[in-house]
Amino acid sequence: MTDQTPLWPFVPSPRAVDITHAKGCVLHTRGGGEILDASGGAIVSNIGHGRAEVGAATAEAMTSMSYAVPPFLTPERTRLMERLRRAWLPAHLTRTWLASGGSEAVDAACRLAVQHFRAKGDNTRWKIIGRDISYHGTTLFTLGIAGHEARKRGFERLIPDMPLAPTPYALRSPLGRHHPDFDIAAADAFEALVLREGPETIAAFIAEPINGSSGGALMPGPRYWPRIQEICKRHGILLIIDEVMTGFGRTGKPFACAHFDIAPDILVSGKGLAGGYAPIVGVFASEEIVAPLAEGGQSLMFYTYGGHPGACAAADKVLQIMEDEDLVARAAARGRALAARLEGLLGQHPNVAEIRGEGLLRGIEIVRDRETLERFPESAAVTQRVIGAGLKRGVFFYGGGTGAIRDIVCLGPAFVVSDAELDRMAETLKAAIDEAVAAV
Ligand SMILES: Cc1ncc(COP(=O)(O)O)c(C=O)c1O
Repeated sequence: MTDQTPLWPFVPSPRAVDITHAKGCVLHTRGGGEILDASGGAIVSNIGHGRAEVGAATAEAMTSMSYAVPPFLTPERTRLMERLRRAWLPAHLTRTWLASGGSEAVDAACRLAVQHFRAKGDNTRWKIIGRDISYHGTTLFTLGIAGHEARKRGFERLIPDMPLAPTPYALRSPLGRHHPDFDIAAADAFEALVLREGPETIAAFIAEPINGSSGGALMPGPRYWPRIQEICKRHGILLIIDEVMTGFGRTGKPFACAHFDIAPDILVSGKGLAGGYAPIVGVFASEEIVAPLAEGGQSLMFYTYGGHPGACAAADKVLQIMEDEDLVARAAARGRALAARLEGLLGQHPNVAEIRGEGLLRGIEIVRDRETLERFPESAAVTQRVIGAGLKRGVFFYGGGTGAIRDIVCLGPAFVVSDAELDRMAETLKAAIDEAVAAV
């Protein structure tokens, strides 16, 4: 590093991108270039960039008040709570707690689960079971409930060793590729783990309803979630659903839970809550979860910036725009259009093992050989090569993958994406994959 090293990002990178402004799905770079954002940043943007109404609502909130401690009521918090209740949340999730990011919200959701049992006088339930292909954040606790080796590497001694259940993964099911019982097998393996650990020691099970970038939009199969819910109920284990990525319309329904009829005890969701305009993530819980805390005179300790009035105002306006413009239905329709393009161009590609997902969350798994599912070596860094080749052509894709799933590219554009933009994303992805695999 020298005096000439750019001040941002923190760890200097030869691939740093300098964005001056953005509109819709397009990022404008210094010097007049454009990047078509095929992944809405980190699968965040939903109403698209540049909606002045959101800026105006945020400015108004910040002009009237800079800050109030999270437990105090403010008009912005009240409006957001009412809208969430009226138009978005499953009816049984009546209590809302707010954080500024997904990691800290998931951390708090786990804390809530354990605190719930403590408040009821149950001191034995303290474990949180996660899954072997998953991502729930980067705090030292959330790394412990995730199956994301690369992000855990080097920190193992600081990370709690929580049990991990197998993730339903049709392509590489232990029963065989696309075995019809892959979903049931994964749910039964969860119950076997519960019995090994001792159900009375387990506070909660946490999982994404459809994996985000860790698994590349892995679909769980139709029978997984009903069985998981039944097992959790039978053993008195709370169900925490992490919809940080899939929530607020991303998969074509308000929450991905609705695809599988999941009724979580605690739901965490956020990237889409303010669609990238402000850092805000919700922890949503039922009355039954929160009642023991209230009865015991306890609170759930807040983070200083939880429920910031400006962030609440931005979220309220983003949700209003989604309602007024029917953008959740649009995400479902655009998702089908994107899937059709990807299937058409990449469905038979020799290096594409699977194209999967729902709505505007789509994952492509890249392999050396689609017949044998042999992966490229980690050292080939194929995902990074694809992303680099995409950027060179002016399109940004989001990388992923962990463990058995080595190379993943995710697409998750804003819901306002046009047909022409979808064409360009799919065509560029094909060209980027071709270039990347030719180079290894
Ligand atoms: C499912 C899921 N949970 C948690 C997180 C962590 O969120 P954050 O990066 O805001 O801390 C992410 C981030 O991608 C996520 O996809």
